[in-house]
Amino acid sequence: MRLLLRTQEEEEEAGWDYASADTKTHTHCYHIYPAMMIPQVARRLIHTYGKGAELLLDPFCGSGTSLVEARLAGLNAVGLDINPFAVLLARTKTADYDPILVRKQAHALRNYVDDLLKHGIQPEPPQFFNIDYWFKPEAKRDLALLRYAIEQAIPTETRDFFLVAFAATVRESSNTRLDEYKLYRIPESKLHAYTPRVFETFWERVGRNLRGLEEFFQERVPATHVQVYERDLRQGIPLPTATVDLIVTSPPYGDSQTTVAYGQFSRLVLQWLGYDDDTAKSIDRRALGGKIAPVQARYESPSLVTALEAIAQACPKRAKQVKQFYDDFALCFPEITRVVKPNGYACFVVGNRTVKGVRIPTDQILIEIASCFGWRHLTTHHRNIPNKRMPLRNSPTNKAGELSPTMTEEHIVILQKQP
Ligand SMILES: C[S@@+](CC[C@H](N)C(=O)[O-])C[C@H]1O[C@@H](n2cnc3c(N)ncnc32)[C@H](O)[C@@H]1O
Repeated sequence: MRLLLRTQEEEEEAGWDYASADTKTHTHCYHIYPAMMIPQVARRLIHTYGKGAELLLDPFCGSGTSLVEARLAGLNAVGLDINPFAVLLARTKTADYDPILVRKQAHALRNYVDDLLKHGIQPEPPQFFNIDYWFKPEAKRDLALLRYAIEQAIPTETRDFFLVAFAATVRESSNTRLDEYKLYRIPESKLHAYTPRVFETFWERVGRNLRGLEEFFQERVPATHVQVYERDLRQGIPLPTATVDLIVTSPPYGDSQTTVAYGQFSRLVLQWLGYDDDTAKSIDRRALGGKIAPVQARYESPSLVTALEAIAQACPKRAKQVKQFYDDFALCFPEITRVVKPNGYACFVVGNRTVKGVRIPTDQILIEIASCFGWRHLTTHHRNIPNKRMPLRNSPTNKAGELSPTMTEEHIVILQKQP
């Protein structure tokens, strides 16, 4: 495994905040994603708990931060996510595209787009629910042209690289408020003054992502590989028993309805990429805690019981929803435990959110749940979430602008599987 430049003493002194760190190096710059892990945190966890490790698993891989860091550190990696857009990002960020080839293709694509524009060719935009509510006519027209050009001019082997830049362009040229991860429209009063810049945005993205690719391509360990599956973790992990050395992951903070709405964040992009409305809209319902179901995993967590009792006093329905998330989370543990080698490590980055004024100690609840499945708690590191990364402020009522400062701190819980 490659060594970090900082010594262990320097790391300890610096803490885990990484407030001024550049989090957009390598392919980490490709696309934002809600509640992304800090690359520096993943890197340090791999360095500290992955000595001699060969295989890393991120069972909630999102945009693939820990998978990218695995390749840079010389580990193979496997990622799972229920959200097809997360899977696209994670696959693309860890792929071995040759930057020289991609640069040539970008050049060819540009010429092709110019030709289409010169000849007034206007491909049909997709027809999905409410497209005219979310996109101005000119944005819809230019995005349709770009989408068509990528399809025609770029071979399938490298197409995802361009689709990720296209995805960022969809988001930035839509009528959504970019300061929210949930879907909120720019107010009518401001919409008329807003001019989407589809082509400029796309070429800026392609250029920036190419620089990230070059850095990644140079520094990744070529012999390593990454496999990413679109999968609900509760349905199992496609790996043999006792094959994983290290888990580095950040699970969802709670159900998507009331915390981070990964599905809402991804919906418009997925619709532009050709996913049907149902798939694009159902992600949050299908994610952990998405719908009420009978308890299936046996676990005990006194800290959860205490928190639920307090929430139930204010709102029994909310208590039930919160419980569902942890029931679903516990359901993932038999599989997580099965695939990890004896004495293997699991590093979970979690946040303690507040519901109905009650702080839910997820770090402690996680330790209690994991202990029911044969895990020992080693230590917990704490990190302050710098102001510039406040996606964790959420709207508890789903109302635009109604923020609750639920999390200013993250907890990095380190567990070891009992032999
Ligand atoms: C906090 S995010 C992970 C972010 C990631 N560490 C990154 O840096 O981008 C949690 C992820 O869990 C995924 N998720 C939720 N329920 C899931 C399930 N049942 N199976 C697999 N993934 C799930 C969500 O789609 C989301 O991408």
